Amino acid sequence: MTRAPIPYGRQVIDEEDIASVVDALRSAWLTTGPRVGEFERAFAEFCGASEGVAVNSGTAALHAAMRALKIDQGDEVIVPAITFAASSNAAVYEGGTPVFADVDPETLLIDPTSVDQKITTRTRAIVAVDYGGQPADYDVLRELAAGREIRIIADACHAPGATYKGRKVGTIADLSAFSFHPVKHLTTCEGGMVLTDDSEVAARMRRFRNHGIDSDHRSREKAGTFAYDMVELGFNYRLPDVQCALGIAQLKRLPGWLDKRQAIAARYDEMFSELPFVRPLATRSDRTNAYHLYVVRLDFNQLKVDRRRAFDHLKAAGVNANVHYAPVYHHSYYRERFGYRPGLCPHAEAAYHEILTLPMFPTLSEADQDYVVAKVAELKHLC
Ligand SMILES: Cc1ncc(COP(=O)(O)O)c(C=O)c1O
Repeated sequence: MTRAPIPYGRQVIDEEDIASVVDALRSAWLTTGPRVGEFERAFAEFCGASEGVAVNSGTAALHAAMRALKIDQGDEVIVPAITFAASSNAAVYEGGTPVFADVDPETLLIDPTSVDQKITTRTRAIVAVDYGGQPADYDVLRELAAGREIRIIADACHAPGATYKGRKVGTIADLSAFSFHPVKHLTTCEGGMVLTDDSEVAARMRRFRNHGIDSDHRSREKAGTFAYDMVELGFNYRLPDVQCALGIAQLKRLPGWLDKRQAIAARYDEMFSELPFVRPLATRSDRTNAYHLYVVRLDFNQLKVDRRRAFDHLKAAGVNANVHYAPVYHHSYYRERFGYRPGLCPHAEAAYHEILTLPMFPTLSEADQDYVVAKVAELKHLC
């Protein structure tokens, strides 16, 4: 019998999720209705923030955050080199210039020393990516931003439920963006949210997600008017009620899933301690890791193969590893538009050739995890 490939990430959908979506489908609201606010309140409360603004992707959440901070033409936004392109694209949408900072080679989190070197008089924001699920070095980043017109945006798409010095991600940065894509911790199919403690900023982001229109149709109905004003150029970034219904049901299981992810990571760590050529990313003791991704660095000095061959070996064995991520400035758009060249962030570039993302999702069985580790162990004997 051939074994089904093991993906690197996978959603978990149960009957409660399905019932919640069916209820929404049977209701009067398909798009913006009561479940949007309910999901916003529930997710914000889970993270300890006072306001949540639901949007239709993590990318839209980052874009809304950039607009809320009034990032504009010529403003520089510092982004780690190792992240998904959306972290920096969001600045580009608003005319900002992404400036790439190197990463800490042990954690792949944005390196505050590199950030410090990249700050100029035009720097307006730092995007702190909680890479893989581990919170960035927020205190040091905050110190760098203090006394300057620099704000911190958390790209917390990997890290709902993670904590930094006892505080939940979502309450630490000026604005925090989350994604509800199916490989993430909880899903709304596509979806995202921005968290903030500033109700005025939240109101502006709600306007931004609705074309820049100053009221929604329900508030107009209430006021007995049909008139509305579009006061800025916004987008249709609304997250439908039907999708929020899924998010509401999923959120109830998030704490249990976080425990599962941490247990799977601890088990991997223990098993890989027997394989000296496998180095899981370092975790810092003052924070908890939400483990969206389980990333290892392979020591190719101890192997006779390169990363491509290691990846292909796992794939042929039905272990669908992945690579998160190539340095963003390697993409041709960034090279051509901004003139970035190799050599910009040496730690990120070195890490890119050595990292592999191994399967990590709450329903990963111990048998499948053992199989993944056994296939990784075989890399030692490949030539
Ligand atoms: C770090 C990071 N930021 C932003 C995003 C964008 O999220 P979405 O796919 O929901 O637009 C992702 C999604 O993979 C991500 O990993």
